[in-house]
Amino acid sequence: MSTGTIKKVAGPLVIARGMKDANMFDVCRVSKERLIGEIIEIHGDEASVQVYEETSGLGPGEPVESTGMPMSVELGPGLIGSIYDGIQRPLEKIMEVSNSNNLQRGVDVPSLDRDKTWHFVPTAKAGDKLQAGDVLGEVQETAVVKQKILVPPKKAGELKSIKEGDFKVTDVIAVIKTEDGSEEELTLMQKWPVRTGRPYKSKLSPERPLITGQRVIDTLFPIAKGGVAAVPGPFGSGKTVVQHQLAKWADADIVVYIGCGERGNEMTDVLNEFPELKDPRTGHSLMERTVLIANTSDMPVAAREASIYTGITIAEYFRDMGYSVALMADSTSRWAEALREMSGRLEEMPGEEGYPAYLGSRLAQFYERAGIVKTLGSEDREGSLSVIGAVSPAGGDISEPVTQATLRIVKVFWSLDSSLAYQRHFPAINWLTSYSLYMDSLSKWFNSDVASDWIKLRQEIMNLLEDESKLNEMVQLVGMDALSDPDKLKMEAARSIREDFLHQDAFHDVDTYTSLDKQHKMMQLVLAFYNQALEALDKGVDVDDIFKMDVREAIGRFKYTEEKDVAARYKEVIDELSNELSKISNKEDI
Ligand SMILES: Nc1ncnc2c1ncn2[C@@H]1O[C@H](COP(=O)(O)OP(=O)(O)OP(=O)(O)O)[C@@H](O)[C@H]1O
Ligand SMILES: [Mg+2]
Repeated sequence: MSTGTIKKVAGPLVIARGMKDANMFDVCRVSKERLIGEIIEIHGDEASVQVYEETSGLGPGEPVESTGMPMSVELGPGLIGSIYDGIQRPLEKIMEVSNSNNLQRGVDVPSLDRDKTWHFVPTAKAGDKLQAGDVLGEVQETAVVKQKILVPPKKAGELKSIKEGDFKVTDVIAVIKTEDGSEEELTLMQKWPVRTGRPYKSKLSPERPLITGQRVIDTLFPIAKGGVAAVPGPFGSGKTVVQHQLAKWADADIVVYIGCGERGNEMTDVLNEFPELKDPRTGHSLMERTVLIANTSDMPVAAREASIYTGITIAEYFRDMGYSVALMADSTSRWAEALREMSGRLEEMPGEEGYPAYLGSRLAQFYERAGIVKTLGSEDREGSLSVIGAVSPAGGDISEPVTQATLRIVKVFWSLDSSLAYQRHFPAINWLTSYSLYMDSLSKWFNSDVASDWIKLRQEIMNLLEDESKLNEMVQLVGMDALSDPDKLKMEAARSIREDFLHQDAFHDVDTYTSLDKQHKMMQLVLAFYNQALEALDKGVDVDDIFKMDVREAIGRFKYTEEKDVAARYKEVIDELSNELSKISNKEDI
């Protein structure tokens, strides 16, 4: 521990002298108010401390005390359903303690409730030789989440004792005898420094999709479990709605949602909505699998920089239990701005648009913590952590540094488009500029687990959309009438793909989520219309008669069919299509 004094205060940055025994990334308590900070630079005996709370009123000469510990999070039962600030302080609790809606400074509130007890059921027994990552036992944390209590990283030994019972997170549940003969007590809770990724055995290559129920994502631009995706988009184009939809519907066991520098009301939406929403797979409230980190725009900027690390460390903790975890960060641009502000205060040499030169490497370090891994421990366990970051380029100009640096790292790009949003085509994901580099590795799964023609149908859809954009250029020059009948039909088919398939209303009870089976049937329907109509056209049917068919309305409304009725309704519509087509074909024959 080392105590110095404040030399200078510059916004969230405090320079302290007399700190020669302190280390980089040590947590400090600053001034008599004991504000929480972290050392981000050391020169001689001077330390630059990034302070996570409002620094107004602080002045030179006040004490700065290093705790000798890196910035860490508490991991254990009680995480699920919590709402934390950027440095894992429980928001409701700090407001209770400070008795107001404003965060009082310097309050000490533990991240995990110290009084609450949890029922621990051991699965390991005395005498077992345990290594890091081995399962000691389980705590049913919520109706849907069972926390596996693991031997923490770097610990190993013979289990001397373990007991079942109701324990507080700090109570001793087991004792191990380590190699050097000493005994070590284990509790339900462990700590981990946020800036260090939690260890695992090896990384695996992603082969399964994270199913989101969002058609344009699952069908056209899927993200793998353990994958990384970015959603860049201009103001109001639907970044937050995409993130919320994923947090609600993705088939992850655990969701960590980081509201990073966005408006408070967007976070309030989450807080109001999530407890009400039911997970379609478990029937329980979505909060029973969710951890929220809220560092809204009105909260201190430095804590925003820390929030993504706090979030991803919690996510890794659940990954280590063998779960599929999805993390959303909205928005990484606001995080990068916090980084830029701190860099400016440190008077570092600015890079492009004032961002520090290490912007790209910091972003990479963050996204690299995603992946599907073989976890520590003797059990054969796989866990995945998928990361989806929203990016908010000013004016929607994706050539700016944060978007560019992000695109160099992520493998999925959902490009939100202001003109689509303006036409109210939601999700406004541009099908021509977006991509998923996981497509190849996921094809096998889609074809074997959903439908053997999945990839073929997807490709037909992509082709029609690409052809439409080429035909559009022609139409602008010569007008729709100049198109051949097959091309007119192609344009109609593409319109149907856009409006009947890709367009998806997040706020419609049924449309908000579509199973993969239903997505497959929807693809089949729009393509059946195109392919069968093309044959009819070939036989001399009038293109206008095709456009006037009633079944097109039924195809358009198919998305509102409830999952339980999908199979029956699909058959009806497919039959209606062939009936109507044969009716208009026969008309030609007469
Ligand atoms: N899938 C969707 N279905 C229906 N409406 C949508 C959908 N996506 C976006 N919208 C509409 O667009 C509005 C703006 O979306 P959103 O708040 O997600 O934008 P944003 O990109 O996060 O904006 P900001 O840059 O302000 O954070 C929503 O309030 C909603 O009305
Ligand atoms: Mg938003």
